[in-house]
Amino acid sequence: MNIDRPLASVIPSDDDQMEFGPPPDVTNVKVAFAPRNERTHRSPTRESRAGEGDAESSPLLAPRSLELEYGDFENNFPDDPIYQDIVRIAEEAIEFGHYPERIYQGSSGSYFVKDTNNKTIAVFKPKDEEPYGQLNPKWTKWLHKLCCPCCFGRSCLVPNQGYLSEAGASLVDQKLQLNVVPTTKVVKLSSRTFNYNAIDRAKASTKMNINKSFPQLGSKFKRLGLPPKSGSFQLFVTGFKDADYWLRRFDNEALPESTARKFQNLFERLVVLDYIIRNTDRGNDNWLIKYEPASADNEDGKGESDWSLVENPEISVAAIDNGLAFPFKHPDEWRAYPYHWAWLPQAKVPFSQEIKDLVLPQLSDMNFVQELCEELYVLFKTDKGFDRGIYNKQMAVMRGQILNLTQALKDDKSPVQLVQMPVVTVERNRTSSGRTRLDSDSYTQSFSHRTPFFSWC
Ligand SMILES: Nc1ncnc2c1ncn2[C@@H]1O[C@H](COP(=O)(O)OP(=O)(O)OP(=O)(O)O)[C@@H](O)[C@H]1O
Ligand SMILES: [Mg+2]
Repeated sequence: MNIDRPLASVIPSDDDQMEFGPPPDVTNVKVAFAPRNERTHRSPTRESRAGEGDAESSPLLAPRSLELEYGDFENNFPDDPIYQDIVRIAEEAIEFGHYPERIYQGSSGSYFVKDTNNKTIAVFKPKDEEPYGQLNPKWTKWLHKLCCPCCFGRSCLVPNQGYLSEAGASLVDQKLQLNVVPTTKVVKLSSRTFNYNAIDRAKASTKMNINKSFPQLGSKFKRLGLPPKSGSFQLFVTGFKDADYWLRRFDNEALPESTARKFQNLFERLVVLDYIIRNTDRGNDNWLIKYEPASADNEDGKGESDWSLVENPEISVAAIDNGLAFPFKHPDEWRAYPYHWAWLPQAKVPFSQEIKDLVLPQLSDMNFVQELCEELYVLFKTDKGFDRGIYNKQMAVMRGQILNLTQALKDDKSPVQLVQMPVVTVERNRTSSGRTRLDSDSYTQSFSHRTPFFSWC
């Protein structure tokens, strides 16, 4: 049963809002890539490729046309020069035959993207190779799709938009300055190592042959080579291990106090992120921890050291694999898709003042929330299958999550208590008055009286 009541009664007034505290420590998600001045500055144009590389390594990749100068490529991110630089490095590396490598353990076509030294710099997940994308390279998924289409994927998620969910998670992370998601945006790449169908490969090789034998005719082709794929491109973080690995070790050996405090803060950031985007896939293998008790390690050659002797060891968290979030309805199934972090001891601790200072002022402000929704709209509408109605539902779920989270933070609840709150959706009703269509917003919230989604057992 749903109970509808106006949101104004629960959205906090300005008076309720907390003051901004000092900016928290920012997690440095370090990215492994060669500094710009250590690589060639050449624009990867057709000229720059003349005579380079063997024919073997380049038959299907499109050389860039002369008109496309550095900066005119499709993958432009002027607001984020570091990210832009890494995408360029990836493009350059592909041009010179350092192709992305498929990650074999995954359920979809995901790739480690390389630089020209073959060092991994990013993780690319093309839309059409997602678990249920047209060109998913895993035959088990193909069989599943063919034989069992009705129980296919998560029924609360927009199918085949995992790459947008990955980029959306990064957007939310950056907007709230959580800094736990390695920067992720939508990028277009082509590589012979991606999964293409036979027709695309044949077309590409025919065009390349024509271009080679009859350059005048070839110049008329709009594009040579394999078609670029849209996908999420997430910066690679180095030195991290699955959270599972470190959590087990932290069970046996307590962290030094200041490190434990830092870890608690990072954990809360992860909780805030996951709860807002309603991540349905946050197992302890889908977030990473970097822990460096290095300075006291191995000094006497004995291997493992006593961590408590190490002064302030560094700890960082990276929330990866965010492709199964932003549902358009709350999951129906009781206890389906829980947040696995809710079983950790850190989840029993009430949210800290630091996290409240970081996110509560923004989350309590409906204008901020609306701005966030609009930024997600700009991202989501780039997909060919975009549907405004579905997007509105996704945002209704997200606003509901934000509402619960805001309340939980104000009430000094813990993450465990947060996930036990009844789920809620908040719909935005747009009303227009008169001929001038003066739009004003009102919101309707609907509580679900289903059994709480999470139970401690
Ligand atoms: N940004 C990143 N930085 C460092 N390592 C990463 C990053 N993204 C992924 N990895 C590594 O690659 C592995 C697979 O990544 P991910 O889980 O995102 O892929 P996937 O194809 O969605 O896999 P699955 O379907 O099994 O979850 C991770 O377990 C992690 O070890
Ligand atoms: Mg994974």
